[in-house]
Amino acid sequence: MKKSIACIILAAGEGTRMKSSVPKVLHTICGRPMISYVLDLVKRSGIKNTVIVVGHKQNYVKNYLPKGIKIAVQNKLLGTADAVKRAMPALKSFKGTVLVLYADNPLLKAETVKKLLKHHNENNFAATLLTAKLEDPSGYGRIVRDKCNCITKIIEQKEANDFEKEIKEINTGIICFDKNKLTAALKLIRAHNKKKEYYLTDAVEIFYQKGDIVGALKIKGINEALGVNSQGELARANKVMQRRILRKHLENGIRIKDPQSTFIDWDVEIGQDTEIYPFTVIERGAKIGKRCHIGPFCHLRENVKLGNDVTAGNFLEIVRSQIGDGTFIKHFSYVGDTFVGKSVNIGAGTVTANFDGKKKNRSIIKDGSFIGSDTVLVSPVKVGRNARTGAGSIVTKNSVISDGTTVAGVPAKILKRGK
Ligand code: UD1
Ligand code: CA
Repeated sequence: MKKSIACIILAAGEGTRMKSSVPKVLHTICGRPMISYVLDLVKRSGIKNTVIVVGHKQNYVKNYLPKGIKIAVQNKLLGTADAVKRAMPALKSFKGTVLVLYADNPLLKAETVKKLLKHHNENNFAATLLTAKLEDPSGYGRIVRDKCNCITKIIEQKEANDFEKEIKEINTGIICFDKNKLTAALKLIRAHNKKKEYYLTDAVEIFYQKGDIVGALKIKGINEALGVNSQGELARANKVMQRRILRKHLENGIRIKDPQSTFIDWDVEIGQDTEIYPFTVIERGAKIGKRCHIGPFCHLRENVKLGNDVTAGNFLEIVRSQIGDGTFIKHFSYVGDTFVGKSVNIGAGTVTANFDGKKKNRSIIKDGSFIGSDTVLVSPVKVGRNARTGAGSIVTKNSVISDGTTVAGVPAKILKRGK
């Protein structure tokens, strides 16, 4: 019989070791908050019944949660067992398997979650742990086994003796439980240290003493189950996620000349046969067409849309802008809050001065126009179809250059009027 599955995500912790005023679960990896990866994982694993436990800076964290998700609140951060306890009332009428996920585990894959649940349900374990063998297990809870290889307990690093510290098999933190057995164990978990912390991991020893079996699924390496507690681990998780994102683009036919020096956020879309040269950063929400040529040293910031056959070349920054098919912006330019049409040529050193000290202003550069090198467009301006600016022109605020017209100078004056 297929068992029902519910999930509890723990996201109440403060993340002291991050040494940051931002709650840990909102730190971003490749442009996306950690918590969103975990929420997405639950969705992709096909789990509908989810409770998330929030606590530290909860109002801030709640902004990142999808509508309709069940929220439990842990006001006093008394440890992972206490956090799970806070979530249980929301699962009062639920029967089946409860999967506990930590919101600081952003790299976990849905296939692994499904494998763990299958292993758990097929064997009727009281709980099933996702474990990993690590060369350097420091920081993680260690899996203690008896002579028959049965799991007897999880010992946290803080409490481990020298012998236990040598154990290389660690608790990734992802555990599924039989709901009834979890409820019973939660009542028996006692506070640990002076800080009065209740460890969820203590449930394992309780099961063992009762004769209930705890299963385990071992995964290779830690990449997938990396727990992010510090800035160093955040940087490491970012690297792993970045490799995954780049691999996906390479598989889609994107030519990335040097993956080591290319940084692409999680939701960027890139069309086939686009080439990306080294030292390029492409951020949140960018959509890039086919056969584009990007970089080297190109920074596409948030909400940039490039059509097909666009060249966004060397030493360039584009933000919140749309660039039409076949347009060239080849050398050291800044384009911000601008709509650029098709087949436009933007000369070297062109700058859209979009910020007037108070607000960002938008400009339009229409199809076929030619912006001479070193032009400054003080936004908002409108450059008409097939219009031209001479090299070094300063096009002042609110200027409208009509179709086919050429302007030049400081400030730019009409040289040749369009028809
Ligand atoms: C935990 C495990 C450890 C495991 C490691 C894997 C326990 C006691 N230890 O340690 O065995 O190897 O994860 O990464 O579970 N949280 C709350 N409320 C609290 C405390 C924590 O919601 O009162 C949340 C945190 O936001 C976090 C998660 O629980 O998402 C884990 O807490 P954390 O303090 O990071 O545990 P670790 O020390 O990493
Ligand atoms: Ca952790």
